[in-house]
Amino acid sequence: MVATVGYRAHESVEQVYWVEFEDGSSKLATVNLAPGVRVYGEQLVKIGGREFRVWNPYRSKLAGAILKGIKLVPIRAGTKVLYLGTAAGTTPSHVSDIIGEEGILYGVEFAPRVMREFIERVAAYRRNVIPILADARFPHRYASIVTEMVDVIYADIAQPFQSKIVADNAEYFLKPGGYVIQAIKAMSIDVTKEPSETYKREINHLEERGFEIVDVVHLEPYDIAHAFVVARYR
Ligand SMILES: C[S@@+](CC[C@H](N)C(=O)[O-])C[C@H]1O[C@@H](n2cnc3c(N)ncnc32)[C@H](O)[C@@H]1O
Repeated sequence: MVATVGYRAHESVEQVYWVEFEDGSSKLATVNLAPGVRVYGEQLVKIGGREFRVWNPYRSKLAGAILKGIKLVPIRAGTKVLYLGTAAGTTPSHVSDIIGEEGILYGVEFAPRVMREFIERVAAYRRNVIPILADARFPHRYASIVTEMVDVIYADIAQPFQSKIVADNAEYFLKPGGYVIQAIKAMSIDVTKEPSETYKREINHLEERGFEIVDVVHLEPYDIAHAFVVARYR
């Protein structure tokens, strides 16, 4: 394994770093909020008394979007996030690192086995993560758990008409001026349509429901046929 030589802060995304290696390469990383604990086999690196978790852009669309230069990542220390579609927790764990002890991540996932993994790998070690076994299409069912308005809704659920689900959740839980971060998986939303057509439809729906699009990036080469959208709630 190549030795590390140091780290530096990412140019634009708070609480995100570049870990620098002896061979001149650098990799994206966050500071581990649960020292010693790996979530998805990621490399742990100790430098200057801090433990970093290397963030793999081929496993996490948010890391891919950062490397593709997305204009704004509205997540920082203290941010409150409603995360729809946590799966086993790869990206949520890095979001948990970024928001730190002052932030909170409400993690919604509807597959019980996957939710169990999310709890065992992520929520069990992190006090800023609240796991919610629920279907994101029915926000009223978890309104008694998400008892505050959040700054950001992060959605990666690959459902038909995902933007409608996102906007419905925003009506319940998103502060005015808050943000949505959304991965659009063109193929699983509608296999009969061209990816660009699906992206357009999803983005148009966000606009119709009161969002202003801040930026859209495509995730190739990290992820095929995905777009990644950041939008602001008016
Ligand atoms: C692509 S994975 C999420 C990956 C995760 N965001 C990450 O980057 O680590 C999509 C997840 O959304 C979940 N999902 C799909 N539809 C859902 C719904 N209506 N409500 C809650 N979870 C849903 C699936 O079970 C799956 O675990």
